[in-house]
Amino acid sequence: MPTVAASAAQVPQSRIRELAEAAMRMDGVLKLYFGESNIPTPGYIKRAASDALEAGYTFYTENAGLPGLRQDLADYYARLHEVRLDPLSEIVVTASGVQALNVGIRCVLDPGDEALALTPAWPNASAIIRMDNATPLAMPLVLRGGRYTIDFGALQASLTPRTRLLVYTSPSNPLGWVATEAEQEQLLEFARSHDLWLLADEVYERIYYRGPEVGVPAPSILRKATRNDAVMVAQSFSKTYCMTGWRLGWMIARRDVAEKAAQLNEFIVSHAPSFIQRAAQTAIAHGEEELRRMLIRLKENRDFCLSALRQMPGVTVPSPDGAFYVFPKIDGLTDSFAFCWKLLQETKVGIAPGVAFGAGGEESVRICYAAERAILEPAMERLARFLSTSWS
Ligand SMILES: Cc1ncc(COP(=O)(O)O)c(C=O)c1O
Repeated sequence: MPTVAASAAQVPQSRIRELAEAAMRMDGVLKLYFGESNIPTPGYIKRAASDALEAGYTFYTENAGLPGLRQDLADYYARLHEVRLDPLSEIVVTASGVQALNVGIRCVLDPGDEALALTPAWPNASAIIRMDNATPLAMPLVLRGGRYTIDFGALQASLTPRTRLLVYTSPSNPLGWVATEAEQEQLLEFARSHDLWLLADEVYERIYYRGPEVGVPAPSILRKATRNDAVMVAQSFSKTYCMTGWRLGWMIARRDVAEKAAQLNEFIVSHAPSFIQRAAQTAIAHGEEELRRMLIRLKENRDFCLSALRQMPGVTVPSPDGAFYVFPKIDGLTDSFAFCWKLLQETKVGIAPGVAFGAGGEESVRICYAAERAILEPAMERLARFLSTSWS
């Protein structure tokens, strides 16, 4: 009997989903397991989408996306990062950040190739590498003095003649870690000297707390790279503009890969939905004020969670500089899935097990704090009680 292809069968199920599916069958769960804000898409973006439908954006567009949107993205990089991009040859609009990862990785890996992935990390990049019949190698970040750092010695030691790609996420899901400019330079140098592609997942770049003022993005690798470097950036409208369900993102890449990605888009989704691309132009044009309001709320939530967690016995939690997660490490934890499962059953608090994010995550759990205080406060209280009673 025909079976599912081995290459598809070996792609593991997301362990975040596994727990979430159980939580969705229960009533009254405090949901902090998914990576999305509880804020709905702002009204002005929704109106722009319906105006676009009325105006006739119901037909196919270019594989690389509407030229107007690509121009707006080029202007966005010039404004926010002082980086000049050619909208026609270096920017490809995608149907989500995941699709940017998908088409980008597909463009640079052959079956049997190897890719280094900094972990703990959102598992999709590694799963996509597997879907392309290549092998991801988890490279755990190391917690030193309260901050995660890259172990370049381990990266060097893991290189083989088949290594073609290095993937990292900054700001990181689940760590909130943000690569410093010095670390970005080192990553770029490492990639250059070993002929690797460097793929930076920057979907959380606007959710950044260490800028000189609210709304300043995290540093992008594009500020360091030249247009001839083997660098790709995956990006998304999901997190910045509360548009997770809309499925829109983009990728920036060296011209040859960007052109190939646009062409491969034809065979994957052809292009992102036309009216959504049009609405995204409005999001870019008018989104800054709403974004700043969201960032102020997120930072307050982050600080609330950090202070609650730091009072809990046996919990160590580095302060995240970006994204909207805390990733506390719990003394003596060996099976984070069992921990989250028991927490869910006994207290109805739904969080994600660290094991879902690969090597280095096993002793931790991920809490998404892009939620209302009316959810975060009881969740922290129940977690504290659980740690001191059921789990000790
Ligand atoms: C690190 C990271 N990259 C990419 C994405 C993909 O975002 P989307 O596909 O919604 O654009 C996510 C979503 O959670 C993420 O956490």
